[in-house]
Amino acid sequence: MPASWTLAVARGDLGRTTFVDGVTPALSDGEALLRVDRVGLTANNVTYAVLGDSMRYWQFFPPDARGLGPQWGLPPLWGFAEVIASAVPEVAAGQRVYGYLPSAGHLVVRPHRVDASGFRDASRHRAELPSPYNAYRSTTGDSAYRPDQEDLLILFRPLFFTSFMLADQVVDNGFYGAASLVMSSASSKTAYATAFELHGRGPRLVGLTSPGNLAFTRSLGCYDEVLSYDDIGVLDVGPTVYLDLSGAPSTRAALRRHLGDQLVRDIAVGLTNQTPNADAAEEVFFAPVQMRKRSQEWGREGLDQRFTEAWQRFTAVVSGWLDVRVGAGPEALRNAWLEVLGGRTPPRVGHVVQL
Ligand SMILES: NC(=O)c1ccc[n+]([C@@H]2O[C@H](COP(=O)([O-])OP(=O)(O)OC[C@H]3O[C@@H](n4cnc5c(N)ncnc54)[C@H](OP(=O)(O)O)[C@@H]3O)[C@@H](O)[C@H]2O)c1
Repeated sequence: MPASWTLAVARGDLGRTTFVDGVTPALSDGEALLRVDRVGLTANNVTYAVLGDSMRYWQFFPPDARGLGPQWGLPPLWGFAEVIASAVPEVAAGQRVYGYLPSAGHLVVRPHRVDASGFRDASRHRAELPSPYNAYRSTTGDSAYRPDQEDLLILFRPLFFTSFMLADQVVDNGFYGAASLVMSSASSKTAYATAFELHGRGPRLVGLTSPGNLAFTRSLGCYDEVLSYDDIGVLDVGPTVYLDLSGAPSTRAALRRHLGDQLVRDIAVGLTNQTPNADAAEEVFFAPVQMRKRSQEWGREGLDQRFTEAWQRFTAVVSGWLDVRVGAGPEALRNAWLEVLGGRTPPRVGHVVQL
């Protein structure tokens, strides 16, 4: 059986990491073995770890199956994997899939509902976890896939899907009657993709960012105005929606102070500052909720088609906003993890690791 590695982080101290070596398990009937091939790392992966217990993200890839105690966790990653062995007649070795992957060399899945678009992992421990994370899309049955755009899919697919659904929810609700929409961590990929989707369709879009990221965020042209966190006092006082991607308590407090009851909606979307914000905000955005609504209204195919069209508009511009930094091997994955965790990755950079 081939050797395999696992990178784990201490759940209580995300900067402490360990590698363990093992062997890939023998497959039982109904299982397939994926080799994790190429993955990305952004602040979103750190958020999975920060919310690992409360949102059950640690449960996707249990550490005990890899000889690690419960104090360790495997940060979930997005990317491509290759089926290298299969005990499922409909899933062939050699198939390339996109999905939710562990920080490890291999993953055993139990493919279910196999069709041209891919399959779902029906492993028992994933049955109660949010279903969108259990889908593995085959590159051959995916309308958004292009071989020369794999790194864009690795870095942006789940983020852009969130942005697409978030923008859709805001539009679907008539912009909550707001004249302005303020977003924090405006330099993040999820934020600027949301602004890209919303720009010119309604209220004024204001991005808030760190002083060092002002020039980058302004250069994107998808916000009407970009301010530093220290300049909240110059915002127009009128009906405003806050989409919080930073989670910084000081930014929320400053907005509430300045806008008072003109802050008509306060929605937690992300927490790049690694401070959970679900309780402090009035509500939490969770893409699968709007996705379910639109799947019912538009049908699964209608949603896929709209997403693919939006994705193609976005990919036509985003390569100019991004420097993909490609690392090689498990050690590069650990380095990228520590860099993103420490907030040392410039917003122009997207980490991709070839394993
Ligand atoms: N609710 C959902 O369904 C959903 C889905 C996708 C993503 N999200 C969330 O959206 C957020 C953005 O994710 P992303 O992957 O798009 O991020 P990203 O592109 O990696 O974001 C980078 C930006 O985040 C801020 N940042 C990063 N690390 C930081 C640190 N250690 N301390 C303080 N600020 C830091 C900085 O922005 P500024 O200087 O502009 O603050 C930085 O330029 C994440 O929290 C993610 O989980 C939520």
